[in-house]
Amino acid sequence: MKKEVKVGVIGGSGLEKLVEGRELNVITPYGNVRLILGKLGECPIAFIARHGLKHEIPPHRVNYRGNIWALKKVGVKYIIASNAVGGIREGLKPGDLIVPHDFIDFTKKRPLTFYEGPKVKHVDMTLPYCPKLRKILIESAEKHFKRVWREGIYVCTEGPRFETPAEIKMFRLLGADVVGMTTVPETILAKEMSICYATLCVITNYAAGMQDKISAEEVSEIMEKRIPIIAEIFKDCAARLLIEE
Ligand code: HPA
Repeated sequence: MKKEVKVGVIGGSGLEKLVEGRELNVITPYGNVRLILGKLGECPIAFIARHGLKHEIPPHRVNYRGNIWALKKVGVKYIIASNAVGGIREGLKPGDLIVPHDFIDFTKKRPLTFYEGPKVKHVDMTLPYCPKLRKILIESAEKHFKRVWREGIYVCTEGPRFETPAEIKMFRLLGADVVGMTTVPETILAKEMSICYATLCVITNYAAGMQDKISAEEVSEIMEKRIPIIAEIFKDCAARLLIEE
């Protein structure tokens, strides 16, 4: 690898075309991963569209290990991610932004670790998301948008179906604020690779049972509305990371 890229961006639903640049095929133990080497403002970044450039990869089939491995391989120290989520906690509204500080894992059948043995590793998850990057992300977000929630607990489901109202009721009782399908295992794998990781989530709908029904179209529509703001926030954030130690 010639030149290292310090900042990685993993774009969730709707952010497939956030960055344009040169495509790089990275060989990993989990298959080949396509990165886009481009720029966000003045900051060189390595970009991955989590769901593929044509939004063809469902949440339970994302190559999470390959993606994180590939970003590590090109030298990434920070990953800024985005996810679409449903709002569970009262007061959260579609269109709001939230930077989770913790998660609850309700996924069922995804590989969750790089450490399948013989080496056994138990990674510390006391601070699941990188506090330093969360702070920068929150400050950048608040510069560009009013409705930013500074913390929240993200419950991650297996998908690709949306939840039932009974599941949402349970998640609320457990203390979850938002629900999505992609922060696990991405956050865990970044931790295992010692990459500083945080995510900016867009609340695209009220969670199941809190509105008539949920459609993928409404999720994309709200996400699309927020793309220009997310781009500005990420630009700002990347510029600050560039000068960080
Ligand atoms: N549930 C799970 N994932 C989601 C949702 C939801 O309500 N909205 C956007 N992604």
